[in-house]
Formats: sequence, structure tokens, C-alpha cells
Amino acid sequence: HELWLRYRPLSAAGQAGLRAVARAVVHGGPASPTLRAAVAELRRGVAALAGREPPEGRRLVPGALVLATPEFAPAGLQLRWRDLGREGYALRRTRLQGREVTVIAANTDLGLLYGSFAWLRAAQAGAELRRLDATSVPKVGLRLLNHWDNLDRSVERGYAGASIWDWWKLPDITGPRYAEYARANASIGINGTVLNNVNAKAESLTAPFLAKAAALADVFRPYGLKVFLSARFSAPVELGGLKTADPLDPAVRAWWRAKADEVYRAMPDFGGFLVKANSEGQPGPQDYGRTHADGANMLAEALAPHGGVVLWRAFVYAHENAGDRAGQAYAEFQPLDGRFAPNVVVQVKNGPIDFQPREPFHPLFGAMPRTPLGLELQITKEYLGFSTHLAYLGTLFEEVLRADTGHGGTVARVVDGRLQGQRLTAMAGVANIGTDRNWCGSQFDQANWYAFGRMAWDPDLSARAVAEEWAAQTFSARRAARDAIVELMMGSREAVADTMTPLGLHHLMGSGHHYGPAPWVDDLERPDWNPVYYHRAGRDGIGFDRSPTGSNTVAQYAAPVARLWADPRTTPPALLLWFHHLPWDYRMPSGRTLWAELVARYDAGVAAVDDMGRRWAALRGEVDGERHAEVAAYLAVQAKEARWWRGACLGYFQSASSLPLPPGVRPPE
Ligand code: GCU
Repeated sequence: HELWLRYRPLSAAGQAGLRAVARAVVHGGPASPTLRAAVAELRRGVAALAGREPPEGRRLVPGALVLATPEFAPAGLQLRWRDLGREGYALRRTRLQGREVTVIAANTDLGLLYGSFAWLRAAQAGAELRRLDATSVPKVGLRLLNHWDNLDRSVERGYAGASIWDWWKLPDITGPRYAEYARANASIGINGTVLNNVNAKAESLTAPFLAKAAALADVFRPYGLKVFLSARFSAPVELGGLKTADPLDPAVRAWWRAKADEVYRAMPDFGGFLVKANSEGQPGPQDYGRTHADGANMLAEALAPHGGVVLWRAFVYAHENAGDRAGQAYAEFQPLDGRFAPNVVVQVKNGPIDFQPREPFHPLFGAMPRTPLGLELQITKEYLGFSTHLAYLGTLFEEVLRADTGHGGTVARVVDGRLQGQRLTAMAGVANIGTDRNWCGSQFDQANWYAFGRMAWDPDLSARAVAEEWAAQTFSARRAARDAIVELMMGSREAVADTMTPLGLHHLMGSGHHYGPAPWVDDLERPDWNPVYYHRAGRDGIGFDRSPTGSNTVAQYAAPVARLWADPRTTPPALLLWFHHLPWDYRMPSGRTLWAELVARYDAGVAAVDDMGRRWAALRGEVDGERHAEVAAYLAVQAKEARWWRGACLGYFQSASSLPLPPGVRPPE
């Protein structure tokens, strides 16, 4: 339950080395709560790693760790402070006043806290601490967790117990867990958190709940973690007794302005509102014939005097709109480019459907050059086997961030603002945190929280590098063991994609809960909730035709991408059935028929999960018995369920294809 902040003792040599570069923690004081947190972290970390707690002091002793800001910089320190921005830091081993010291420098105390965590990470990774010279500045401004936590403590798509927000006991009782949560977030650079579900209740904006949120904000503040809230668009009707929530109605605007003022009285550093509107039955501006921009701008106007932002979600799809669901967000939002107020971020899911094991990147990325677009990722594994399956999402995040939009840069460059000159930038991760002792539902799901934070700070970090950091801190710094764990993680998401939805298939999961296979379901209330709507398997073949002969949503991508994906021969096999409906005897690049390839992928999924089990078994002795046994038990569930998926999908698809299994293939169990 310490997450990645375990600080296990280093080897004897490592301890001696660390003690030599951490003889004291020196700062200029007077210490703010944030600086206190940085000092405490360094002392606690060094004490645990090196077996001796460095004293705190003001004198520049040899071997000191010096926390420096422009106001409290030791004489002789030359730094380009401006390059560090508000949250960045420099770590530098240098000679000052005749003494070898390590400087952790930043413009703010928050930067010092981030720098302290980074230095401790370096110490655990076995970095050359005597030759340190590194600078790091976050590339994305708002790095946010989105909790889908309800006020009754249930968590939508949560697989780690109840909500950690104990609304009954707040605001009076805050307990230690909230500070641990904030500290963990600070350690990976997360600087904001949306407390409540996007399917929001108006109640969360009432005075009693604002007081509770404010109590959390007080605990989080020293760690640089700002509170945000999901806002229900119809709150002026539900709470204010108004007849309408029309964003152009002056009384509605006045209500929101007054509400924003009230929120900021409770939390002067409140971050802003996250809004899900006109999607899946939620109220929104379209109820009044207005656009998403009208709705977002009204809230933006209320928050602007306080410096708050609106995160307006582009995850929209509606019943009434009979077209291809994958095309709806683009159709509604792209024409609004340039119409949003400057403090609005349009928050876009990584793909156009819904957090599937694999999706192409969302076509809005790059297509709204005059609008800040935030990237929304799901850390909780709604469609990837909940917390019982092992799927490291760093590779999924990397895949979307590195995708070339065809608009002159990658998704990462759109999101960090560099491609289109945006200054307001955001990445959001739907949290997987709950009351479980291990926080996230499983040991390996902690890695996904970690990876989100690290990659939001720097979208160019590789999934592998992040896995290495995490595994070394969480399980073992011993190179062979760490590498074995990393190997297992790196293949795990692909294994899940093969197990469930290979070759670009999507949304085959059980209705409502989204666990386990249900490709046969065709009778749900909405057509676009039915798996059959997505796979379209029949005698003639399988797949969703989004090419020019079908829904043509492929045309929402920039020309270079659209051209490639419009043609099955130039569509990557991993996305083939996302964009094309193809006959069962379609010839794959592997030389197999599509049917044989589908069978091979489901077989590969089972084999990969079995292989993960073997690799983990070989790590017994490298990992403490309790966690080893827990992971092994979960992998056994996954192995059983990979067979369940294979059997259900091959059995069902065979009923559509009427083809025999290729020679030598085991019949579905
Ligand atoms: C998915 C998920 C819902 C969630 C929605 C959203 O559809 O299943 O539970 O509310 O996404 O992101 O708004």
C-alpha cells in the first residue's frame, strides 16, 4: 500500500554512495508547507534508502542537498531560472563556496517538491548522483485525475473498492489517506483532481459539498494538487429554481457567476469545472438549441475572473443521431473550432469510441487548431479486464501520443500545444483509485496511475522507460528482475487486445458492465450499445466499414492518414476491422485468410497470457511472497478468462462464417 514510494534499502555500496551525497538537507527557509513536504520527503527517502536520516540545516556543508529558489539561492549558483518555469526543476551536482553539493533548484516550492521526488527516483534508479545535471519542465500544464466517484461512494467503472472520499465524515474528518494520495500524485507530477463523476449530480455544487471539497483542497494544497469539480449543466434549474439552463439566458449566466464566486470563496485556488453535456442522456446546451461552445463559454465567463478553466468533454453521442457513433464528436465539435473562450479546453478521449483495448487516435486531434484540446485517457480498465487482468497501459498511452495526426505533428504535439501554439494544455486520466489496500485493485494497476502522471508531465517519455522506473521502485531494483517484470508489462496490453478484440474489433464486451465476451448481443435499447453493431459479422465477412464505401468517418482524418486507412491494404492489421468490412477469405499480410488470422490472434492471446503466468512464476523469490502470490492468483484468472474469450468469440464468429477451424487448431473450450 505504499505504492511506488517504498524506498527499500539500497545495497551496502549504494547506501554508502547515497549517504555521501545526502549529508544534510539545506534550505533557506522560512518553510512553506510545500517546502516542508519536500524536506520531509528527502529526509524520509534517504533515511529508508541509505539507513541514515540527513539532518535539516541552513549551512552549506559538503555533501549537502541544497533546495534553492531565486530568493534563497546560495552565493555562486549560476542557473537559467527562467527556463524552469513555474513547476520545473534542475538537479545539479556542483561546487559552491568550495564545497561539493547537490542543488535542487526551482522557481517555486512546488518545483522543489517535484525536484525532490525526481532526485529520489534517480537515487533508486542507480543514477550517477555525483554527476547529476538534469532539467525537467512539464510539457503539459494541467495534469489531472478524473475521479468518476459518486456522492454515495460508489465509483463508476471503479474496480478498487469504494470511493476514497468519505463524504459523510468530511469536512471535519480528513484522516491520513488524503495526504498520502496527494503525496503520491505529487511524486509523479499530477497537479489537479476532479473529485466527482462526470455524470454529475447537481448536489455536488451545494454549500455542504463545497465545504467538504474545500477540506480536501486544504489537505492537497501543500502538494500542489488543485481541486476541480464536475458540474451538472442543469444545476441552475435543480439548485437555483430557474425555469431553464439555457446558456444565453441572463438569469442562468448570473446564477453560474454567483456559483463560481461561492466556489472560490470556499477554495480560492479552485481549478475549474469538468462538464459532460448532451451525451448519454446528460443535460446540455443543445437542449435549448445552443452549441457546445455556447455552453462552455457561459461557464468560462463565470470562472474567468478567478482564473478557472472549463474542461468541456467531446465524448458525445446521442441516440437521435443514427449515424456512425465514431463520427459524432468530430461532427459536433470540429465546426466550432475557434469559437471557444480562451479558458476552455475541449477534453477528447484518446479514440473515437470509448477506451477500447485498441482504437485509432481521435480524429479531432490536429483538426481544431484554434482550440486547446486536452487528451482524456482511462487509467481504470473498464474494457481491459478490470483489475483482475494485467494490462500495462503505458504502451497504449505511448501509441496514441506518438500517432501522427497527419496535420503536421503527433497527438503529443497537439496536446502539449507546440504544434498549434496553444498555451492552455491538459491531460486527464480517469482514476483507478479506491479504498482497496493496494489503492488500485491490483498491484500492476498501480503502474497505470504512475504511467499516466509521468507521461502527462512528459508525453515523450517511452512506455518502457516509465515501466523501468516503476518496476524498480515497486518491486526490485535488481537489474535482471526489473527487466523481467518490464518485459512482462510491455507485452501485456497487446495480450489483452488479442484476447478480446484483435484486428481492430471493438466493443464485444458484456453489456453494461463491460466484462467478458458477449459478441452475440443484439437486443439492447440503443443500437450502438450492441456488439453486433460493431463487429457486423455475417456470412459475407466481418468488420465495420468506415471507409468511403461505408460510414466514411475515415474522412475525418487528415488526408495522409485518411488515404492510408481508407484502403484495407494500407490499413495496419491492428486496425483493419475498425475501418473495413472484409470477406472471411480476405488475404492478410501474413498470408493467412482473415478467418485463419482471427483464430491465430485469439490463440496468440491465450498463449501470451500463459506466458505472462510463466514469467511471473519465475520471479518467485525476487518479489515478496504476499504480492507474488496475489499477482499469480490474478494471472490464473486471466488465463482462464482468455480461454473464455477465445471460446466465446471463435464459437460465435464461426456460427457467422460457417468455416472450419484451420487444421491443427484446438476447438474452443
Ligand atoms: C463510458 C462509460 C460510462 C461513462 C462514459 C463517459 O461510456 O461506460 O460509464 O460515463 O464513458 O466517459 O462519460
